[in-house]
Amino acid sequence: MKRVAILISGGGSNMAALADSMTGDHPARPVLVLSNDPAAAGLEKARARGIATAAVDHRGFGGDRAAFEAELLKPLEAAAPDIVCLAGFMRVLTAAFVARFEGRMLNIHPSLLPRYRGLNTHARAIAAGDREAGCTVHEVTAALDDGPILGQARVPILPGDTAETLAARVREMEHRLYPAVLRRFAAGDRTPVWLS
Ligand code: GRF
Repeated sequence: MKRVAILISGGGSNMAALADSMTGDHPARPVLVLSNDPAAAGLEKARARGIATAAVDHRGFGGDRAAFEAELLKPLEAAAPDIVCLAGFMRVLTAAFVARFEGRMLNIHPSLLPRYRGLNTHARAIAAGDREAGCTVHEVTAALDDGPILGQARVPILPGDTAETLAARVREMEHRLYPAVLRRFAAGDRTPVWLS
């Protein structure tokens, strides 16, 4: 049974979808939900599911990213995860941190990578006049929002869409895509998942 740690910064809806998918004959189980924000609403969602939680407030390190990550690693390593899932985790990780989990750390990004790395992806897609948007699950490498693609889901951009209406449509697909990718990945299968 693969042990999965999930890192969050906010609401944790992707964490909840992942956690709720890991039942029955699924080859993985959640062992830790870890946040850089002690007030993250997702921590309560994890506790309600009986999942161990921890938080390391990144604001206590005055911008010293390495010191923050050294603290973050303590509960994370203690959970001995086989797989780490970033799910709405909004801190950039150093190459040194990524290297410890290379090949077994996943992230979900709300765009059809390689388009729209970084933030404000939905507003950018709308402003560009794109007809479709979506989300991508990829292996995490030192380069931001890069790394081998493990899955993508596409949604239409509709007339009158705002960043909020589009985000809501994409997020519904995130909650289908990420669990599907994790299940394959935990079984050792890196065949990409394509949803639309
Ligand atoms: C999602 O839209 C995800 O694509 C992005 O941040 C959001 C996280 O939402 N990385 P939640 O915390 O999973 O609800």
